[in-house]
Amino acid sequence: MKGKTAIIAAVLLCALAPCTVLAQMKDSDKIALIARGKYLVNLGGCNHCHSPKVMTPKGPMVDETRPLSGSPSVMPVALPPDGMLAPDKWGVATTMDLTAWAGPWGVSFAKNLTPDKETGLGSWTEAIFIKALRTGKDMGEGRPILPPMPWEDFGKAKDSDLKAIFAYLQSLKPVKNAVHDPIPPAAAPGGGH
Ligand code: HEC
Repeated sequence: MKGKTAIIAAVLLCALAPCTVLAQMKDSDKIALIARGKYLVNLGGCNHCHSPKVMTPKGPMVDETRPLSGSPSVMPVALPPDGMLAPDKWGVATTMDLTAWAGPWGVSFAKNLTPDKETGLGSWTEAIFIKALRTGKDMGEGRPILPPMPWEDFGKAKDSDLKAIFAYLQSLKPVKNAVHDPIPPAAAPGGGH
């Protein structure tokens, strides 16, 4: 049912806004593309890092009210204790919801992948998305994308798979969540080794 709502929302969205490639497709092709994207997003484990979680007796589970909306901006940035991360100690620390990660690169925060225009991928095109994953640069031309985002692995996917992933992400409910900028190593005690 949820999937159906997302597809209807996507079709409506494309009816209202000029959705480049999707707009020129037959409805049945759009539905198939979005379904394939959803399958690949599950397989790629994007939810592990990009979805806020709710705590349950079974541990943290995806918050189904705002999937793939990135590291929640309301969460205080609690840095790991100084000295915790070192070459001969622990290498990486992560928050309970797996959306913020401290390591030798400083602290990175998983991006909002929903189609919100200001805080998510709402203004991205399919071409920007593919270029970002292929080059490992923010929006395909900015700063390097930080770990643990596995862009080297996803960047090897076929164009058709990356297009399907992008179509699915654009079909999600837009969620306003301005994710924190990364914290460089020098400013991140415990994460700056
Ligand atoms: C192990 C954790 C992890 C997984 C799994 C993961 N991501 Fe990420 N992703 C991140 C983090 C952290 C960032 C932010 C990196 C930064 O700020 O440089 C990010 C950033 C991104 C970006 C923004 C790139 C840019 O240009 O700024 C995109 C797009 C993205 N991820 C898509 C995906 C998709 C699609 C999947 C699943 C197929 C996925 N991610 C799986 C952690 C992850």
